[in-house]
Amino acid sequence: MSEQNICDTPPSVVAAAAEPLQKKQASSAAPVSQCTGQGISECARAPVDVGNEGMGTFGSRMLSSDRNVFEYNAWDHVEPDDEHLKYAEEQIRLHHEHPVPKDKREKYNTQPAAFWDSFYENNNNKFFKDRHWLRIEFAELFEWTTSRKSAEESNSISTIEAIGVDAVCVTASKNGMATEVAIGEKFRIMEVGCGAGNAVFPLLADIYDPRLFVYACDYSKAAVDVVKSSDTYDESRCSAFVWDLSSTELPSQVAPGCIDVLLMVFVFSALHPDQWSQAVENAYRLLKPGGILLFRDYGRNDLTQLRFKKSRLLEDNLYIRGDGTRVYFFTNEELATIFGKRFIVRQNAIDRRLLVNRKRELKMYRVWLQAKFCKPINKDN
Ligand SMILES: C[S@@+](CC[C@H](N)C(=O)[O-])C[C@H]1O[C@@H](n2cnc3c(N)ncnc32)[C@H](O)[C@@H]1O
Repeated sequence: MSEQNICDTPPSVVAAAAEPLQKKQASSAAPVSQCTGQGISECARAPVDVGNEGMGTFGSRMLSSDRNVFEYNAWDHVEPDDEHLKYAEEQIRLHHEHPVPKDKREKYNTQPAAFWDSFYENNNNKFFKDRHWLRIEFAELFEWTTSRKSAEESNSISTIEAIGVDAVCVTASKNGMATEVAIGEKFRIMEVGCGAGNAVFPLLADIYDPRLFVYACDYSKAAVDVVKSSDTYDESRCSAFVWDLSSTELPSQVAPGCIDVLLMVFVFSALHPDQWSQAVENAYRLLKPGGILLFRDYGRNDLTQLRFKKSRLLEDNLYIRGDGTRVYFFTNEELATIFGKRFIVRQNAIDRRLLVNRKRELKMYRVWLQAKFCKPINKDN
């Protein structure tokens, strides 16, 4: 899965983006959390190491017409030029001319988890980098703990506690994530498609609040075994188990409607489009009313899509990697349709970055989508 290996980057930039997706360069370098719930950020994967050493703040490297594109090795929020658009069109045409041969298609859809099992058997926890960027991009994972602490410290809470009310509610979010959380209750975060635990372990390490409980699941048993065999796996704070996001049943380990934050990082792209609606339904059922689904995945015409060779296209925008795993490349409009049926769309942003191989004078366009979907609170739930 070479394209995954090369596209895992440190955290970075953000810029404001209106919803739906805007076709313009954005100007703000503030994190999504500071962009009133709408924004774009670069934070997932890149073909070269694009650390920000000596380069200023991520998100601030804007390519203006008077700058030399080969001056730095990465630029933020760059729209593709005409040459690139032509190249993209040509690549996609070639993919369609040479799809996965008919007799081979079925095997990729019948037991997709088996390909991921082989992946984790080969790579263990050595492939993905820790998702330390979660703090910048998905503040909802963190801010509840400080909200609760400050509420507990405030007079109002002690007054209510004094009269014996045990579920005191405080507003947990600045950027529209619903809800109110009960002091003293567990705060439950669930990651679906947790892989080797590159998100859940940094989360557990960063959040010391004893009320945090993390569910980590993946349909690859080999991935779950990697998580469970980690020295830092602690059953009093985390439960890892096998579960398929496209299943018609919810996992027995989790009560319906009890999850505060659901995390999906590069997992939705592994589904077949026929599985999307079941996956959305499952996410809806798992979340509390007012709970939030945090989403990051591949965007249409990302470098990794365009450089697929012949016989890799399974269906429109759905490809098979060399190791047999599936990957889909989304547009914002698709996300709005897929999730909008059940969720309030709080953010649906595109994150573009131009990576430059200065020596070979090559330009590489990365495209990721970042979204936040909120489960509405209504009288039925
Ligand atoms: C690209 S990896 C990302 C892993 C992890 N989220 C991270 O960012 O490090 C995708 C993961 O999703 C898992 N996955 C794919 N389809 C799934 C499904 N239907 N249900 C649960 N997990 C799935 C794969 O086994 C794999 O571990």
